[in-house]
Amino acid sequence: MTENSILDWVLRTPRLDLRPFQPGDVEALEAVLGDPWTMRYYPAPFDRFKVSDWIARNSERALERMGLYAMVLRSSGELIGDCGPVPQDLPNGKTETELGWHVRRDHQGRGYATEAASAWMGEMFGRGEAHLIALVRPENRPSCRVAEKIGMQIEEDILWNAELKWPHHIYGVSNPNR
Ligand SMILES: CC(C)(COP(=O)(O)OP(=O)(O)OC[C@H]1O[C@@H](n2cnc3c(N)ncnc32)[C@H](O)[C@@H]1OP(=O)(O)O)[C@@H](O)C(=O)NCCC(=O)NCCS
Repeated sequence: MTENSILDWVLRTPRLDLRPFQPGDVEALEAVLGDPWTMRYYPAPFDRFKVSDWIARNSERALERMGLYAMVLRSSGELIGDCGPVPQDLPNGKTETELGWHVRRDHQGRGYATEAASAWMGEMFGRGEAHLIALVRPENRPSCRVAEKIGMQIEEDILWNAELKWPHHIYGVSNPNR
């Protein structure tokens, strides 16, 4: 596959297109990651610089068809969040693939994160990935519910990340075909 065809690759769900981020997505993603209420389980909402950096890092990962992808509503073309797989080196010594998700406040509670995460799970298991995780603060009930609804279970509790050392559940699910 050429670099261009990799970046044209889109994961489609019934209502969403999950596509690689583009530099022009900064403003739309800032409406998600810059919102203090949406980001209440993070140390702080992201400023524009951090959003640009997030897009740049995930655009790099998209060259391997990995990373957080833009979550776009097919009905309107609007970018309303992100979702995708990110490799993580965990304090238990394992390297695991984490599924991450964020949805803009006015679109939460409509099943979009679950729909996107479940499509990524199918995609990654189809590629032969043995196990997927989600790292979630126990008080982040909406995110715990997304993990549970796609079939993940709590496997371990850790302090995450290296700097913050906040308690997190490791939710996990294994590939049934391996
Ligand atoms: C987590 C998040 C992505 C979920 O997105 P979403 O599209 O609203 O998710 P869904 O609609 O698929 O499911 C949300 C679930 O959380 C539940 N939920 C929503 N708000 C809740 C609340 N305040 N308390 C408890 N459960 C809540 C919903 O009821 C639903 O579960 P249910 O189907 O059992 O009723 C969204 O809340 C978000 O962007 N949060 C901020 C970013 C974040 O924390 N990301 C994850 C980091 S680990």
